Amino acid sequence: MDIAVVGTGFIGGTLGRALARSGHRVTFGSRNPDNDQVSEDTGAAVSSPAEAVAGADAVILAIPGNAVKEFADQNAGALEGKLVIDATNRMGSPVANARADLPGGLRYARAFNTVGGENMADPVFADGPADMFFSAPAADRAAMEEVISGVGLRPVYVGEDQEEIIDALFRLWIALAMGQGRGRRLALRLLEG
Ligand SMILES: NC(=O)c1ccc[n+]([C@@H]2O[C@H](COP(=O)([O-])OP(=O)(O)OC[C@H]3O[C@@H](n4cnc5c(N)ncnc54)[C@H](OP(=O)(O)O)[C@@H]3O)[C@@H](O)[C@H]2O)c1
Repeated sequence: MDIAVVGTGFIGGTLGRALARSGHRVTFGSRNPDNDQVSEDTGAAVSSPAEAVAGADAVILAIPGNAVKEFADQNAGALEGKLVIDATNRMGSPVANARADLPGGLRYARAFNTVGGENMADPVFADGPADMFFSAPAADRAAMEEVISGVGLRPVYVGEDQEEIIDALFRLWIALAMGQGRGRRLALRLLEG
């Protein structure tokens, strides 16, 4: 897939490099497109957010939650009809996700926000990969599973428009990792009989 990763910090860099290494064509969207350090040895491209979005099948948002509105306003036309994967979290806000700041005509998915980034950089635990629970339109389930698997996580589909449930898992992770002091090397997994 052609994947735009908007944001070149901890989460954007981690996801973009992993996806490039697993064979996807990744373009980072950055406010500093001349700086390609984020790509490391992966061959991923770096361009402006607008250029990255224009050529993408899927767009991963890995920017601060409070930066989404400006990004969305500047790229509303290009986002129309695109699969947009919201990895942003607004810590301490009643609504963690950024859906309300995005235009309505895109295919909204919620993923990559439920665990600390260390667990996405190194998704395999002693007994196998961590799960990544996600919400997306049913028609995009397979594409989402490909993207999540590309990072090395096991995708678990929760349904369409279920970002509130995904955000509850984010709050669970914070409660366990931070509130209970278990530490950030912590992920969630579904067990089925
Ligand atoms: N840290 C975690 O463990 C974790 C886990 C899950 C989800 N998240 C969420 O993922 C998102 C990114 O987190 P992160 O830890 O990767 O943060 P980060 O290291 O600070 O990176 C954020 C990136 O967003 C871009 N950006 C665009 N507009 C910005 C603005 N107005 N101010 C600052 N940066 C801006 C920057 O890339 P350019 O300079 O290239 O534009 C920056 O490198 C956040 O919404 C966070 O809540 C974080």
